[in-house]
Amino acid sequence: MERRHAIITGGSSGIGLEIAKILLQESYNISIIARDKIKLQKAYEELLSLCPDPSLIIGQFSSDVTDKTGIIGTVRSAVEKAGPPDLLITCAGSARPGYFQELPAEIFDQMISVNYLGTVYTVKAVASLMQDQGHGHIVMISSGAGLIGLFGYSAYSPSKFAVRGFAESLRSELKIYGISVSVVYPPDTNTPQLQGEFPYKPPETRTITGKTGVLSAETVAREIIKGIKTNRFSIAPGITMKILCSAHSLINPVLRIYFDYLVKKTIK
Ligand SMILES: NC(=O)c1ccc[n+]([C@@H]2O[C@H](COP(=O)([O-])OP(=O)(O)OC[C@H]3O[C@@H](n4cnc5c(N)ncnc54)[C@H](OP(=O)(O)O)[C@@H]3O)[C@@H](O)[C@H]2O)c1
Repeated sequence: MERRHAIITGGSSGIGLEIAKILLQESYNISIIARDKIKLQKAYEELLSLCPDPSLIIGQFSSDVTDKTGIIGTVRSAVEKAGPPDLLITCAGSARPGYFQELPAEIFDQMISVNYLGTVYTVKAVASLMQDQGHGHIVMISSGAGLIGLFGYSAYSPSKFAVRGFAESLRSELKIYGISVSVVYPPDTNTPQLQGEFPYKPPETRTITGKTGVLSAETVAREIIKGIKTNRFSIAPGITMKILCSAHSLINPVLRIYFDYLVKKTIK
């Protein structure tokens, strides 16, 4: 049986790691890419312990997606180890909330660099290989904050809007080569990223985001896999994201009034 190979940036933690676990059960060879070697090794051992078939290949690669030449070499190493890429999932990302006036300008550079350019560089490294083989699926992780701008996310939200614009542009361009593109809008999901945001989240942001629940990384990963299998372009885990994804332009004027009310109430 021909083996499929999934490359997952940010596969050492949170949503990316949960996706890797599911794909492993579906007999994919897996390559996880992230920076921290200790976290990578831990994730690798966890995947190994869950591996249903010893002939499956699991690779771990320490690489920074913001390094545009480095990521080309990393993808090449992954392909040498585990075969041509059938699926790319760009999960690598980070979030830094805060009041606009208090956020250093460097945070804006960082958000665009990791969340947007890191996605572009990885997709560039993989798309040409998929084009040569005439098939493949590229799945980019945006965010609910990539559909509507939120108080406290002036640095993060635009980087996720950019991912959405990139995915929308690329979809039709890559379709002619047999490559599918999807974009994912996760809601608040219980991962190290979400926990890392807490110390920086302004109270107004907490009030707004606290109005919707938090999903587990496993639930979000399962919805992403379902969306991949049904070849959906927009994948929106959970009911709130489904509504937001299909009607954000219509409901945004109402949401703006509601969010302004919540901000005012929090300040009081
Ligand atoms: N959790 C949420 O509520 C939520 C909501 C909407 C969207 N998202 C998005 O979902 C994606 C996954 O997030 P998560 O919540 O699962 O976060 P997470 O658990 O913190 O995982 C982030 C992963 O990205 C890797 N990473 C970060 N910067 C990197 C870089 N420059 N180069 C390579 N790898 C890098 C991390 O490993 P290293 O740090 O070791 O590199 C880690 O493996 C992100 O794009 C995030 O913005 C999350």
